[in-house]
Amino acid sequence: MNYENILSENNESICYITINRPKQLNALNRVTISELNQAISAADKDKTVRCIILTGADTKAFVAGADIKEFAAFDKNAGEKLARKGQELLFNLLENASTPSIAAINGFALGGGLELAMACHMRIASDNAKMGLPEVSLGVIPGYGGTQRLASLVGKGKAMEMITTAGMLSATDAKEWGLVNHVCSQEELMPMAEKLASKIKRNSPIAIAKAIISVNAGFTDGVNGFDIEISEFGSCFETPDFVEGTTAFMERRKANFN
Ligand code: CAA
Repeated sequence: MNYENILSENNESICYITINRPKQLNALNRVTISELNQAISAADKDKTVRCIILTGADTKAFVAGADIKEFAAFDKNAGEKLARKGQELLFNLLENASTPSIAAINGFALGGGLELAMACHMRIASDNAKMGLPEVSLGVIPGYGGTQRLASLVGKGKAMEMITTAGMLSATDAKEWGLVNHVCSQEELMPMAEKLASKIKRNSPIAIAKAIISVNAGFTDGVNGFDIEISEFGSCFETPDFVEGTTAFMERRKANFN
């Protein structure tokens, strides 16, 4: 599939998706969001894909936010629509996908860019990365789930500080705050993401999908995460992956999850 603003390619069970508007620091405009929706949906349906790695083209930015030029003339209704559509098409889609995703943050991850990284299941940052939700400096607030996901990742007090100051965190501080899992040099970023993906690839994709549902349930209003865990745990017992995993253990060999 040929896209205008992103690149998507599969290699050894990993789907690499690159936001490719480097001149605009990979800002998320309508077309980019729609293409990301298509690429992520396709990767999630493809049984050969075991992990998605999302990154930004070039070395300066992961994504510098929603495209400010596109929404500068919006009114209330258009603003609400932008946030609702974006959340549905991209951010919720990514978070609820069965395929685990890793954000490889290679530079600025600001506003919608940090929101995109936070919708991924894991985050790795290169040491030049800068992360923040600067929306209040533009007279708006984060609209792609940032007020919710940042607070659940770093805690309410730190989220309030980041959002109200519109400040940027360095990669090292982001790791200390629990916003990213690992920090490395720019050269090591992709190898580190691939190393994480290769560990994920060894495990049962069916069980991983159920684990994602269960973890996410704990962060969903009105849903009891423990109840969902019980039910997803039970349903594992009727899957081929459970048979293969336990048989492989008994036969003292590595499981082969197809
Ligand atoms: N939207 C549109 N274009 C953007 C952009 C954005 N979010 N961020 C950068 N660009 C464009 C610039 O306009 C510039 O384009 P032109 O050359 O055509 O003028 C190009 O990318 C390079 O950017 P700069 O010249 O500004 O680069 P810099 O090195 O001087 O600064 C920066 C880098 C600090 C990241 C700065 O670009 C910046 O502050 N960007 C905006 C960050 C931001 O506020 N993001 C939040 C957006 S709002 C949002 O995301 C709402 C939401 O939650 C839904």
